[in-house]
Amino acid sequence: MAMISTYLTPSSQLSGPKSSTAASPPLFSGLRRSSASLSTTQSFFHSVNSHTLRSSSSSNRTSRGIVAMAGSGKFFVGGNWKCNGTKDSIKQLVSDLNSATLEPDVDVVVGPPFVYIDQVKNSLTDRIEIAAQNSWIGKGGAFTGEISAEQLKDIGCKWVILGHSERRHVIGEDDQFIGKKAAYALGQDLGVIACIGELLEEREAGKTFDVYAVPSWDNIVIAYEPVWAIGTGKVASPEQAQEVHVAVRDWLAKNVSPEVASKTRIIYGGSVNAGNSAELAKKEDIDGFLVGGASLKGADFATIINSVTAKKVAA
Ligand code: PGA
Repeated sequence: MAMISTYLTPSSQLSGPKSSTAASPPLFSGLRRSSASLSTTQSFFHSVNSHTLRSSSSSNRTSRGIVAMAGSGKFFVGGNWKCNGTKDSIKQLVSDLNSATLEPDVDVVVGPPFVYIDQVKNSLTDRIEIAAQNSWIGKGGAFTGEISAEQLKDIGCKWVILGHSERRHVIGEDDQFIGKKAAYALGQDLGVIACIGELLEEREAGKTFDVYAVPSWDNIVIAYEPVWAIGTGKVASPEQAQEVHVAVRDWLAKNVSPEVASKTRIIYGGSVNAGNSAELAKKEDIDGFLVGGASLKGADFATIINSVTAKKVAA
């Protein structure tokens, strides 16, 4: 079982939201793996020196120039509707999405609030799959207020978003808890959109991403969402996002397998909108987006989905 965890080693070289740079090489730590069974979250830390990553991978990729997609996975765009919407507004949004022209070579997923999943499932085109925004750590039963992975499958969900920063930092979920959820959901054949991403103070202290336990790399999309960029309008620059995405991909290559590194979609989230998605999409390790606010507007979400064309042009 491959595990990812939360700890990160401070560094001074990461670019902050205002693109500051410093001298010493950053250490990315916090990706860990374990041979433990699916039901445990035992793990050990594994440090990755991103200075090495940067010189061996990022800069080589930059010099290749014309390569716009380092991974082999299909472009993936998820809309995280969070706790937004009413029956009426969702009816309108679904209608806008149904009539939008979407590029064919993109996996598209939307995550409505639980109570509207059935409405969306019954009215949205099959072209777009549905994600839940959370799931319980195990089989259902006497767990008031929770929703099980089995129930999500029963209602037609293919995906679940786990580890979102709002669940971590507002609700207080920790790595172990999120790891259990991921393990259980994957075991039920749900795809997991696994969110990682640092707080502003963590970035300023040189930490870039936090990660948590996952049981297998099949069926996982990693969403890198720097917390300082979520819902703030402060999007990471394409370079800032690429820097972390390449570190995650290189970690996967070294610690899981080159095949998993290639096929795992690493998507960016945090103030993505119809105006900035094309520039971000051009970066070769950005395999798509997880979109909050802008996914509530059908036309804007369609533009973000169709930013895959910028990637193709860049290639
Ligand atoms: P945002 O949210 O696009 O509104 O910044 C992204 C997310 O939280 O997934």
